[in-house]
Amino acid sequence: MEFEKVLVKRASTRKYNSQVPSDDLIQKVIDSALLAPIVHFHKLHLSVVTNPEAIKLAEDEAEKIFGVPDAPVKMPKPYLYNAPVWIILSGKKYDENENPNAKLMNDNLFWNVGSIIENMELQATALGLASCGINTTVVAMRNAPEVKKAVGIPEGYDALASVIIGYTDVNIPDRKVRPEFIPVSYVK
Ligand SMILES: Cc1cc2nc3c(=O)[nH]c(=O)nc-3n(C[C@H](O)[C@H](O)[C@H](O)COP(=O)(O)O)c2cc1C
Repeated sequence: MEFEKVLVKRASTRKYNSQVPSDDLIQKVIDSALLAPIVHFHKLHLSVVTNPEAIKLAEDEAEKIFGVPDAPVKMPKPYLYNAPVWIILSGKKYDENENPNAKLMNDNLFWNVGSIIENMELQATALGLASCGINTTVVAMRNAPEVKKAVGIPEGYDALASVIIGYTDVNIPDRKVRPEFIPVSYVK
């Protein structure tokens, strides 16, 4: 798919059919994460989760936060939308009590995370897959070591962001550029 087409066809998709992406396609998505423009002084890890029990465990944990009456935000369920593949990016932050440069390092972690997730979403789109960034199940596992273990987060790491991928029957219309989203100024 042409890159311009990829940009207008990528959309957060919340409905998946039962078709499972091949290992080869999953690997291409993972490779795109490894090609992302990041600095390499953060300890990061990618977990590819296709195990339905692990997915259910994470969704049950998310329900404790997002399924209650005073939930911070209401999200559709199931939280991972029956997508067959869930990819979690985790990392180990620098200890700000031990390392004087830790805050500087930790502050730019978000940039790396965004680059990695975005590369995977764009690659998924290019491969004809649907995707959606998912934070509900990420924040929910923060204090749930058994969930972290079940989804393959390394010891001492925290889940930072995640993306689901799969196939959809939903028609995704071309998106339009919306200048009101982010004001732009030019200094010439
Ligand atoms: C940091 C972040 C967290 C998100 N978490 C969720 C989530 O937990 N569940 C969900 O359905 N969508 C989630 N999304 C998807 C956003 O809702 C979506 O990107 C936004 O509505 C814009 O839609 P678009 O991606 O189709 O342009 C997340 C997106 C970002 C960037």
